[in-house]
Amino acid sequence: MNRIYLDYNASTPVDPAVAMAMRPFLEGAYGNPSSGHWASAPAKAALERARGDVAALLGCAADEIVFTSGGSEANNLALKGVYFAQPGRNAHIVTTRIEHPSILAPCRFLERLGAAVTCLPVDGSGRVDPESVRRAITADTVLISIMHANNEVGTIQPIEEIGAIAREHGIPFHTDAAQSVGKIPTRVDSLGVDLLTIAGHKLYAPKGVGALYMRRGMRLEPLVHGAGHEGGRRAGTESALLAVGLGTACTLAQDLEPMAGVRALRDRFWLGLRRRFDDRVLLNGHPQYRLPNTLNVSFAGRIGAEVLQALDGVAASTGSACHSGRIELSPVLEAMGVASEIGGGAIRFSLGRPTTAAELDAVTEQLAAVLIPRTPE
Ligand SMILES: Cc1ncc(COP(=O)(O)O)c(C=O)c1O
Repeated sequence: MNRIYLDYNASTPVDPAVAMAMRPFLEGAYGNPSSGHWASAPAKAALERARGDVAALLGCAADEIVFTSGGSEANNLALKGVYFAQPGRNAHIVTTRIEHPSILAPCRFLERLGAAVTCLPVDGSGRVDPESVRRAITADTVLISIMHANNEVGTIQPIEEIGAIAREHGIPFHTDAAQSVGKIPTRVDSLGVDLLTIAGHKLYAPKGVGALYMRRGMRLEPLVHGAGHEGGRRAGTESALLAVGLGTACTLAQDLEPMAGVRALRDRFWLGLRRRFDDRVLLNGHPQYRLPNTLNVSFAGRIGAEVLQALDGVAASTGSACHSGRIELSPVLEAMGVASEIGGGAIRFSLGRPTTAAELDAVTEQLAAVLIPRTPE
């Protein structure tokens, strides 16, 4: 079987430099970072160095980084942490309809506890209007949580503008940057955020590690209570191994130059598809404000999953699911108002640092073989 991986938004392989930096902590340096004796010293030093490496990428202080088990935990910590830190809990949260389930599901949970949640709509390209954020704010608003870039279509939100509105009203602002870190600049002061989520496995670190940036002064109730690890913000003996993985990945991600190459390949791929399929292939997402690696396209009148299945060994994602013979669009495409004949044919190709032009050309050829009917000789 051919193997072409174009699902980097789902997960990335561990970068060889990341694996190399982690190895000593897998095979040795086993001490508990909190122990305070000779065995803990290397683990403690590595943990704090890694915290500094994550902070350097975000342009914040090391003590503003809390290591978590990944993006989902960081998102849960931001939402529930703010909610449970409110004494009265008469809380209102502003978010959007296109967030990842690790934002929307905690919002549903908090609604059951009495929180009010506003899920803002997006336009046809998947963008939120910052003025709709302003209009949604009430006297009870305790948090605004809006993703930096969408995982399915790659659309980038006007985070700086929303951050300015949040600051004007003195409301904490969280962004889920799981998809944007390592692909576009994510410095917290430029974005104007108070909380920011990172997921290691989206940026060539292993699965099972992530981080939440917490601006100094932000008060969050921990999700996991226990001893005082992570400055009392997340109990559990820290893994120097995983922290080093994330820290090294963040250091590599400082250099965004490789993303220029990824963008060029992605754009060449899109032009190739347009040339082959003309207006039978449509772009989902914003043409300009979009992650450089993401290409979500619809093959009009087709079923994305069937097209993908007909390809040989191509790993990518679809934007719809078939339930009892009915096409159900993903909540993201639905929120964007994509028609079901179009959205049903959506496929997300997400490129990574290892992607080559030859791989993309091979996919284009395979798509043509599947989608363009041959004329009988
Ligand atoms: C936008 C976004 N947020 C959060 C997550 C969850 O991250 P993790 O898989 O590390 O829990 C993902 C992963 O798909 C994501 O794409």
